[in-house]
Amino acid sequence: MKDQDHAKKNAGESSVDLIQNGMTVGLGSGSTVYWMLKQLGERAANGLDVKGVPSSQQTKGWAEAFGVPLTDFAHVKRLDLAIDGADEVDPQWQLVKGGGGALVREKIIAASANSLIVIIDESKTVSQLGAFPLPIEVVPFGWETTAERITETGVEPVARRNDAGELFVSDNGNYIVDCHFGTIREPRALEKQINQLTGVVETGLFTDMANNVIVGYPDRTETFGH
Ligand code: A5P
Repeated sequence: MKDQDHAKKNAGESSVDLIQNGMTVGLGSGSTVYWMLKQLGERAANGLDVKGVPSSQQTKGWAEAFGVPLTDFAHVKRLDLAIDGADEVDPQWQLVKGGGGALVREKIIAASANSLIVIIDESKTVSQLGAFPLPIEVVPFGWETTAERITETGVEPVARRNDAGELFVSDNGNYIVDCHFGTIREPRALEKQINQLTGVVETGLFTDMANNVIVGYPDRTETFGH
């Protein structure tokens, strides 16, 4: 395993220690969350009473494979906590997410949780957001015009495509455009500005949402909390 994978594994596994008996937990998406799910499945098999709400079809599949009991928002209104990865985390814990295309459900889960635990390997920590292209989910109808409106924010959006060259379709049936800002100086203002544009479903900027950040290294973790 590569050092980065060890770091992701350490961060993912360590986050499971924050899950207490009886909790309902929002399950994020991505390769760091994979390790969290694997560990959580083992804890559930050993008697931990937990229920998870998955943020993507991929997470749902992994959770089922690892034996993590699942529920959905038809049965729970609030989540005790949510655990999710990120593509960038700045010193104020503002996040860029959505590299895997699950940003809308991830944000609904984060907004419904009493606490958001972010699990990352050290490469995700940045002094300023923006080097990672910001994903924005848009409604397919007239998406080209929505992309044009997004240029008002000073960026040329690039439609995400799958390996076959077709437009990438999210779990919600929408498209995603990736926006190469380079630097994002005002994440809060940019998040608001983008979310007001007609045709935009949600952006991958998650501002003022994270409560704890667990940074994984190949041989240890560091936990930061409010
Ligand atoms: C999924 O849409 C993303 O928000 C992921 O949480 C993010 O891309 C981090 O993924 P990794 O843990 O795979 O780096």
